[in-house]
Amino acid sequence: MSGPQTWVTASQEHLWTRRWRRRLFALVLTAVFLSGIAVVVVGAYLLVATARSHTPYYEDAVEHFKYGSIGSEPASGLPAKLWYALPHLVPEAFGEARDYRPFGFLYEQDADGQQRDLPIGVGSRTESGIELVWFNCALCHTGTVTGTDGTRQIMPGMPSNNLDLHRFIGFILSLANDPRVGDIDLVENAIEKSGGDLGWLERQIWRFLVLPQVREQLVLRAAALTPLLDAQPPWGPGRVDTFNPYKLIQLNMFFSNLAPQEIVAASDFPSIYLQRLREGMQLHWDGNNRSLFERNLSAAIGAGVTPETVDIPAIERVVKWLLDLPPPVSPVLETGGGLDKSALEKGRKIYREACYGCHGDRGNGGYGTGSGEAPAYDFGGERIGSVTPIEEVGTDPGRFDSYTEEFARNQRRLFAGTPYQFRHFEKTAGYANLPLDGLWLRGPYLHNGSVPTLADLLEPPETRPAAFIRGLDTPDPKKGGFKSPVCDPEHSAHGPKEFCFDTSLPGNGNHGHLWGTDLSDADKAALLTYLLTF
Ligand code: HEC
Ligand code: HEC
Repeated sequence: MSGPQTWVTASQEHLWTRRWRRRLFALVLTAVFLSGIAVVVVGAYLLVATARSHTPYYEDAVEHFKYGSIGSEPASGLPAKLWYALPHLVPEAFGEARDYRPFGFLYEQDADGQQRDLPIGVGSRTESGIELVWFNCALCHTGTVTGTDGTRQIMPGMPSNNLDLHRFIGFILSLANDPRVGDIDLVENAIEKSGGDLGWLERQIWRFLVLPQVREQLVLRAAALTPLLDAQPPWGPGRVDTFNPYKLIQLNMFFSNLAPQEIVAASDFPSIYLQRLREGMQLHWDGNNRSLFERNLSAAIGAGVTPETVDIPAIERVVKWLLDLPPPVSPVLETGGGLDKSALEKGRKIYREACYGCHGDRGNGGYGTGSGEAPAYDFGGERIGSVTPIEEVGTDPGRFDSYTEEFARNQRRLFAGTPYQFRHFEKTAGYANLPLDGLWLRGPYLHNGSVPTLADLLEPPETRPAAFIRGLDTPDPKKGGFKSPVCDPEHSAHGPKEFCFDTSLPGNGNHGHLWGTDLSDADKAALLTYLLTF
């Protein structure tokens, strides 16, 4: 088998299906009174014909990761035709583009050199005869690197450095109050401009069922999320508030019940390589879960699946592929012979003393092979995969405080009565000591992405950049991470490419993690040389 295949899930009726059927039923009844037999027959046919759910199947694991559905569409998605039509219906949100690139979504070309219809990170699933689209794991876990020759490479598994989810969610929620979304003539016109169409019958279905339902969902989402988004500084590209939206949507908690210190919690997207070796470690930025399976399942909830809609086999395919996904080799190693061996050796010694215990080491301590082979990671070190108390690490407490005992209790009730019930979530005392594999792709650094480069992390907080541009994808070969010019938050435009990240805002603090900051300049340079090979 190759290419997309239809794959019918064994899952029960989904939320969308249930709501849809109730509405269809009401419509059919109304139709009996209003317009007689023909509509009744068609409605009855639809009721019977539309109960099954199907989604394209991708044979290749990476294609599945990038484009496959994990079950987020029925509860959270948009009808595909509306997704394609929005750039024409609400053009001012898209600038010149007629796709989702302005929000940092990534598009690839298909075999014929045409741009694919859907971006990376958006899957599709047909429910009740309507194709719906929404997020999968690749949305937040696939980024890009632009090399010195100007070519831009897509890197599955690295943080989505381009994606500005805050702007995207803000845009989607703004549709709740946009009369254009309720106007069937405007919507149909936009669908036609995007290359689609609605037949007569479909137009009636969209007018009486689809659009009212989309608007109802948007209004509910907007009511739940808008107070949170208004209370937070914009996240900027590459970040998301992991747990607060989850509290408000999946757990139906109220914004007014959140404590002031839990509401500013945007976190950097992490890299997700070499998961097998992470089994049993306390991970997530605050180390709140030791179970690999639960971390993956809870990630899927972040993407919009619910216990009713989750597609466990699809997620298991992603997870299996992630187990041994190696980090791409740092370009510093590709240059092989150009490395300063004595600085590396010195840097490695400093690292083993000051950092290894918490972070482990690159494979076998080897470097400079130039072979292009991904070095495996040394997961040794006494404290790796455990948590350093917040007082000791001293970094911004926003993300740490957003994860509360109460939330952990509520989370453990999700999937209750199924084999997937969460059992491992716990409130911890600080942030996790994480492995540093693929470090060259992980900038800006720390859980909130508040320190642009590795060189800056080795400086004391007072001399780390107070404001810098996030979202560029050109590596900084000297300082580590990506080019991040300093900027002035007062005067910078906020777009996906020129987002000025201001460390003085709540949740964005760049303090703490002082290890290595008191080394001599020469020792820092050597340590940095070594870190650049990770
Ligand atoms: C909306 C963005 C988003 C989506 C979609 C998403 N993730 Fe994540 N993922 C994150 C963020 C943010 C974190 C860090 C969470 C934290 O601790 O605050 C994370 C953490 C993780 C981790 C743990 C990393 C570590 O070492 O601590 C794994 C593994 C992971 N995600 C896998 C997945 C899988 C598998 C999926 C799909 C089922 C997925 N993610 C979907 C944003 C996302
Ligand atoms: C006592 C444990 C401990 C020691 C020692 C330690 N770190 Fe860390 N490190 C942490 C913790 C905890 C975090 C996460 C903090 C956060 O995100 O707020 C972290 C985060 C990092 C990150 C950011 C990773 C990312 O993906 O953003 C880097 C880079 C790093 N450390 C490098 C070092 C270096 C280099 C040394 C040695 C000079 C070192 N660390 C020493 C505990 C430690």
